[in-house]
Amino acid sequence: MESMNSKLTFADAAGFQTPMLAVFAVDCSTGKNAEPRPALLSSSRDLADAAMRLLTPGEFKAGLGDTALIHATDALKSAGLQAERLLIVGLGKARDFSLDKIRKGAGTAVRAAKARSVRELAIAFPESNAGVDAPLAELSARLTARALAEGAELAELDWDTYRNDRKDISINDLSLISKVIDKKAEQETRAGFAEGLTVAAAQNFTRSLVNEPGNVLTPTELGARARAMCSEAGLACEVYSSEKIQELKMEAFWAVAKGSAEPPALIVITYGPAAGAPAGAPVLGLVGKGITFDTGGISIKPADGMEKMKYDMAGAAAMIGAMHAIARLKPAVKVIAVVCSAENMPDGRAMKPGDIVTAMSGTTIEIVNTDAEGRLVLADGLHYAKTLGCTHLIDAATLTGACVVALGVLNAGLFSNDEATCAKFVRALAISGEGFWPLPCTDDYRERITSEIADIMNTGKNRWGGAISAAMFLKEFVGDTPWVHLDIAGCAWNEEKKPWTPYGPSGIAVRSIVEWVRSYSA
Ligand code: BES
Ligand code: MN
Ligand code: ZN
Repeated sequence: MESMNSKLTFADAAGFQTPMLAVFAVDCSTGKNAEPRPALLSSSRDLADAAMRLLTPGEFKAGLGDTALIHATDALKSAGLQAERLLIVGLGKARDFSLDKIRKGAGTAVRAAKARSVRELAIAFPESNAGVDAPLAELSARLTARALAEGAELAELDWDTYRNDRKDISINDLSLISKVIDKKAEQETRAGFAEGLTVAAAQNFTRSLVNEPGNVLTPTELGARARAMCSEAGLACEVYSSEKIQELKMEAFWAVAKGSAEPPALIVITYGPAAGAPAGAPVLGLVGKGITFDTGGISIKPADGMEKMKYDMAGAAAMIGAMHAIARLKPAVKVIAVVCSAENMPDGRAMKPGDIVTAMSGTTIEIVNTDAEGRLVLADGLHYAKTLGCTHLIDAATLTGACVVALGVLNAGLFSNDEATCAKFVRALAISGEGFWPLPCTDDYRERITSEIADIMNTGKNRWGGAISAAMFLKEFVGDTPWVHLDIAGCAWNEEKKPWTPYGPSGIAVRSIVEWVRSYSA
C-alpha cells in the first residue's frame, strides 16, 4: 500500500534541496478576538522572519489546515532556504499544539502538494525558535515522527480508483526532515517513523477494503483479501463458510447469512509471538462486523442513502487491518481476529421479524427487526472468540444509527464491561489521536432488550438509547470476559473532505486497536 516512497533524513530543513519544503506554523495569539500572530516552526529564525515578511498581514492566519505557498525569493534564499518553494502549513493556536495537529498538518502538506502536482515533497519536523513567543507542548521525538509519518501516508490516497477521470497523481518521494540530534533521540525518531509507516499502511489497507462496493467485496472476496494479506504478513488464516457456521450452531449469524445468494465468511486470523506465550497470559480477541451490504433485510431500509451501507463491514476491515500491523509490530501477546461477514438481504429464505433463533451460546433471540443484523453476527462471533480461548475481547462495528445521532461524526461510541480494560483503550487514544467517547452499558439497561417470548430481542423497547440497547445485546454474549465495544457507524466514512483527508473511508479504530493490543505486550 505504500505508494509513496517515504524516508527520514536528519538534516537542516532550510538547507535541504527539494522542489517543495513544507514548514509548520502556529498562531501565537491568545484570547478570542486577538489578531492572529502566525509564527513559523523552524529552528531558523532568519527563515521564519523572512517568510512571514513575504505574507501580507491577514493573508495567512496559521489556522489548522491553512496553507500558503511561496516561491523561493532572494530574501528566502539569503535566509538559507534551498527549496524551490516553501509551503507554510498552519497547525492552529500554539496552545493547542499536539500530536494530532502534527498528524493533520502532515496530511495537509501532502494534500496541498498533491493538488499542485508536486511529486517530491519534504516536510520539516516542527521546531521552535526565539520568535515563537508562546509556550508549545513538549512532544516526544518518537510520537512526533510517528504522527508525521501517519498523517502523510493517510493523506496521500484518493478514493478515485473507479473513476475514468482520476488524476493518478501521487507524491513519489516524501522526505521527513528532522534536525540532527543526539543518538538516543535519533533512534527514537527512527522507531517512531517506522511505526507510523506500519500503522498507516494497515489503516490504508482497511480503507481500501471499506472503499470497495458491495458487488465487488462480497463476504467471499473479503475472505480472499484477508487470506492474501495474511500469507504476505505471515499470519495464520482460516476462512469458513455456511457449513462451518451451521456446524458451530451459529444460528444468529446464519439467520443473517441465509437470506443472501452470497455465501457468508467466518474469517479467523491468528497471531502468536515467536517466543510463545506462557500459560495464563492474555489472549486478545478482535471481533469485527463484516456486513458487506446491509439492505435491512425484510425490515428493509429506505432507498435514500442505502448505498452507504456498503461500508457496513468497516469493523471487520478494521480488525483485518489491525492484524496486518500486529504481524509487523510483533507484540508479545497472542491475538485472534474473528470476522463475521455476510450480506443482509430480503429474500424468500431471509429471516423474518418474529423469528426466534438460538445463538451459539444457547441464548435464544427474538428477531424483532431484521435490520438489527450486526448484533446477531457479533453475538456468535464474540462467543466463538471465547471458545477459541480469548480472555479479553474488543469488537468494532458500524452498529447503530443511534450512535451517530448521539455523538455525531467526530467521536465513535465506546462501551465496556470492565474498567481496567477500558482504561487501557482510553490510554491508547492518546497515541492514536482517534475520538471515542464513553457511553454506558450498565446492567440497569438490561430490561431494554428483554423479550416476552425468548431470552432477549434484537432491538430495544423503543428508539431511545439505541446504541446502548445494541451494546447491551452484545454484552449478553461476552459474559464475564473483559470487553470493549466500538460503535463506529458515524466515523467509518468521511462525508466531508478536510485539508488533511479525502472523502471516503476513514480507517477509524485501526490505530487505537493496535495500540490497545500493544499495551498487553508482555
Ligand atoms: N448498519 C446499520 C447501522 C448504521 C447506520 C451504520 C448508519 C452506518 C450508518 C445497522 O445494521 C442498522 O441498521 N441498525 C439499525 C438498528 C435498529 C433497527 C434497531 C439502526 O440503527 O437503525
Ligand atoms: Mn442493519
Ligand atoms: Zn448493519
